[in-house]
Amino acid sequence: PSRRSLLTVGGAGLALGAAAGAGAVTALRTGDETAPVADSGAAVPFHGRHQAGIAGAVQDRLHFAAFDVKTEDRGELVELLKEWTAAAALLTAGHAVGEGAFGGLAEAPPDDTGEALGLKPSRLTLTFGVGPSLFDGRFGLKSKRPKALVDLPKFPGDNLDPARSGGDLCVQACADDPQVAVHAIRNLARIGFGKVAVRWSQLGFGKTSSTTPEAQTPRNMMGFKDGTRNIAGTDTANLAKHVWVSEKDGPAWMTDGSYLVARRIRMNIETWDRTSLKEQEDIFGRTKGEGAPYGKKHERDEPNLKAMPEVAHVRLAHPDSNGGAMMLRRGYSFTDGTDGLGRLDAGLFFLAYQRDVRDAFIPVQQNLAANDVLNEYIQHVGSAVFAIPPGVADKGSWWGRELFT
Ligand code: HEM
Repeated sequence: PSRRSLLTVGGAGLALGAAAGAGAVTALRTGDETAPVADSGAAVPFHGRHQAGIAGAVQDRLHFAAFDVKTEDRGELVELLKEWTAAAALLTAGHAVGEGAFGGLAEAPPDDTGEALGLKPSRLTLTFGVGPSLFDGRFGLKSKRPKALVDLPKFPGDNLDPARSGGDLCVQACADDPQVAVHAIRNLARIGFGKVAVRWSQLGFGKTSSTTPEAQTPRNMMGFKDGTRNIAGTDTANLAKHVWVSEKDGPAWMTDGSYLVARRIRMNIETWDRTSLKEQEDIFGRTKGEGAPYGKKHERDEPNLKAMPEVAHVRLAHPDSNGGAMMLRRGYSFTDGTDGLGRLDAGLFFLAYQRDVRDAFIPVQQNLAANDVLNEYIQHVGSAVFAIPPGVADKGSWWGRELFT
């Protein structure tokens, strides 16, 4: 058997352990699929109306990858998406891809790269998206481009690196174990060899947003609690209003999907670290210790925007300052070593899901880019926008089927 066996094996779901010689190996990563997802070792269901990795509890680690499509053959791209979907169903359930790490012919490279053997599913989610450039005519998709999938405008202060921006496709891998997230992206890239190539990718840690209000709010690299006021995964009313694309929004293939904005935001950490506590707090309009909005005692108290400086980040980002605009933030911190000048290359890899970027990220970022005092300490250096199709509802379906058929 060769790599091709992926399709048949994936199609058969988890019957993979039956393959000769693969059983013992794959069993090592078999998790209890019925365990609650709050257990950091558990498996998150892959199939569903919406893709996982959006409204679900945020995992600790991220590996995000944007891909360029290299093949110009639509059929080949569709085949790849089917293979990816089958692999994603296996990976998120805690299995190896193909016939297991040591399946296949001894003379050929193993189907799975192997570094996740013995590790738990770790709440791995794989979320798939398509960028504006996929609709450029190569695949006959021009007329299917959603109106909401706009190219983001240039915002004041943007210093975007094209090599860290854009992409025809994306896969967001979130897991509680970084090795599980990296393994997933690596194996998807490997399956796609010759048809797609990684354009850029980003590792993240220390989730900077929370979709589970009962959990302790994580802190970003500036030391502030981040994600206090976010759309919770249980807040079905706001998810329907601000995150999921509805049938009447169109196009039909996007129903139950969402739109993702990714921004690599570098922080001038050394300058920030020399800034007084008072100034740091004024910049956000919240206290650093408790995370309480100015004029209030507790983190979760309703912010009184008038008690904050006019140029405070929280005041400017709040829905009341942006005609009610809201998005679901799901970003991560990053530290990619130092930059050659001895400065930490660190910041926030901002990820936000929304029903329409024209009513959410764009107006809010226009307001922030023009007025936010935080801009003295940050710079947007990478940017991408993706349409996130609905979930793969059943085992016979695949990522993007609604778009291609
Ligand atoms: C709130 C940090 C960039 C949108 C906050 C809070 C912090 C924070 C500490 C308060 C806690 C909370 O409610 O989550 C940062 C940092 C950024 C950054 C360090 C850049 C490095 C952005 C960007 C956007 C954004 C680019 C969107 C365009 C928001 C929103 C809120 C918020 C919507 C909640 C406001 C509210 O409803 O009270 N951010 N943020 N942030 N931020 Fe940011």
